[in-house]
Amino acid sequence: MKILVVGGGGREHAIIRALKKSPACTEIWCAPGNGGISYDAVCKDIKATDVEAMVAFAKEEAFDYVVVAQDDPLALGMVDALAAAGIPAFGPDKAAARIEASKVFSKDLMKKYGIPTAAYETFDDAAKALAYIRAQGKWPVVVKADGLALGKGVLICEDEAQAEEGLKEIMLDKKFGASGNRVVVEEFLTGPEVSVLSFTDGKVVKPMVSSMDHKRANDNDTGLNTGGMGTVAPNPYYTPAVAQRCMEEIFLPTIRAMAAEGCPFKGCLYFGLMVTPDGPKVIEYNCRFGDPEAQVVLPLLESDLLTVMTACTEGRLAETEVKFRDGAAACVILASGGYPVSYEKGKEITGLENGQLPGEKDVTVYHAGTALQGGKLLTAGGRVLGVTATAEDLPAALAKAYAAADKIHFDKLHRRSDIGKRALKAIEAQA
Ligand code: AMP
Ligand code: GLY
Repeated sequence: MKILVVGGGGREHAIIRALKKSPACTEIWCAPGNGGISYDAVCKDIKATDVEAMVAFAKEEAFDYVVVAQDDPLALGMVDALAAAGIPAFGPDKAAARIEASKVFSKDLMKKYGIPTAAYETFDDAAKALAYIRAQGKWPVVVKADGLALGKGVLICEDEAQAEEGLKEIMLDKKFGASGNRVVVEEFLTGPEVSVLSFTDGKVVKPMVSSMDHKRANDNDTGLNTGGMGTVAPNPYYTPAVAQRCMEEIFLPTIRAMAAEGCPFKGCLYFGLMVTPDGPKVIEYNCRFGDPEAQVVLPLLESDLLTVMTACTEGRLAETEVKFRDGAAACVILASGGYPVSYEKGKEITGLENGQLPGEKDVTVYHAGTALQGGKLLTAGGRVLGVTATAEDLPAALAKAYAAADKIHFDKLHRRSDIGKRALKAIEAQA
């Protein structure tokens, strides 16, 4: 099979490396890809959001299968457009992608089908939203832009002034464009967060190994929210008891709800969960693999990713095995200093050979923001690399990932030194 992966970050690199293990994968491309990905796939510089150009290119190159890995092309209906052109693709169609693309859609879905989530109201008027928040008088309160906002459309407001300022930015100043035409105001929940990615063909759902993201820029969960500074898998808070409740109260009801609404979800459905004192609740759904969750989950996948993906597309997931191996994985993100605000690009990256660390067993370097120029590997984004290690347990995986990360250098490199610390404490507490 000749395969195209749409996107250009660490997640796409992880998907490509996993797909390449499949004997059925004979040729693999990535659009737009990046410098480091070009060691593993042929890169074609087409914007992931340019649906028309991507479909035309897919037809021209006669791809057998396309994996749309990024949220915005999914929300724009790239899978629908590919299907119309006769090209099967992994990922939800436009109607099903609303589960991530519209918070109002996903919250209303959960309410209608009794899926546990934070209590909320939706508003299309900033003054009415503020009046509601004032009347509630409960702090902190969470304000979310309805649409996609590069992961930055969620505000935790500690007081009225912050709520007023947040509503102004989202709804009046339109900081996130049309994504802020409506907002969801919701109850603040507490508890550890768990990410569970799952495969689904719209009928059955098979969860992957659980994971934990580290969203804040700096150690001890301080600093601004980022796309994710590191991940570990499995997540110790996802105990067998929690997993069972999630399956019964969240995963199956969500798959059935989407089918009942006439928009069955096929692809990777990401459950962003919080294990609250009242049980697991949904914080958000994503309509795709997480980044950098994919960088710890896929290295632990024992089954053939291409087989599982095509089973999702073709509605054959029930009879397809999805198996993960025992052990753990850890991913440490190497970012450009200043990320997620402003940072410099074009710094030379040293320590790698053909994009990888030679001689490191069980370590993979996933490229998020790199460029190749005159044979040199340069930084080209906020998140630059993800260094993943797998091992028999989490302490060993973390030690290996950090030891490997120590061998990679570029000017103003920033990374967190405490990835997995919270998970290790939870494991100790459980022992
Ligand atoms: P989201 O983009 O919806 O995942 O939100 C980003 C982050 O904001 C989440 O990972 C949580 O840490 C936090 N968050 C979102 N909603 C809530 C909530 N209702 N209560 C507490 N924290 C939340
Ligand atoms: N790491 C969070 C996300 O992919 O949305």
